[in-house]
Amino acid sequence: MPACSSASRRTVLRGAAAAPVAGLALAACSAPDDDGSSASAATEAVDLGKESEVAKGGAKLYRDHNVVVSRDQDGGLKAYSTICTHAGCPINKLEGTTLICPCHGSRFDAVTGKVVAAPATEPLTELAVKATDGRFVAGPAN
Ligand code: FES
Repeated sequence: MPACSSASRRTVLRGAAAAPVAGLALAACSAPDDDGSSASAATEAVDLGKESEVAKGGAKLYRDHNVVVSRDQDGGLKAYSTICTHAGCPINKLEGTTLICPCHGSRFDAVTGKVVAAPATEPLTELAVKATDGRFVAGPAN
């Protein structure tokens, strides 16, 4: 059974807000407050690891930071927050370049951030990413 399947949207959002979330996720995402508004501004960059961990056409999920980094066939880098845009669950599964949310099964393309399977309708939040001295650093989008 998915971790959030029986929870109401409000319960899921409160759970996400109360859970200890480290690194970029805390800075990049926050659950909507009671009036439904939300803040999504990332505030600091995070060192994710070795640049060599993501091959062309591949992706890597950094669960501890709730970030996915992908590389297109030309080597171009993209990074997205992996907080699901449906109800705020942290996405914990990557198959190839498809991210799968454990709560209600939304799927996202890790290369484009776009939704590939509902119930989510909004793409993942894009983050800035660069390779510096052989390491990935992701942070707030400019
Ligand atoms: S929170 Fe519902 S599919 Fe991700």
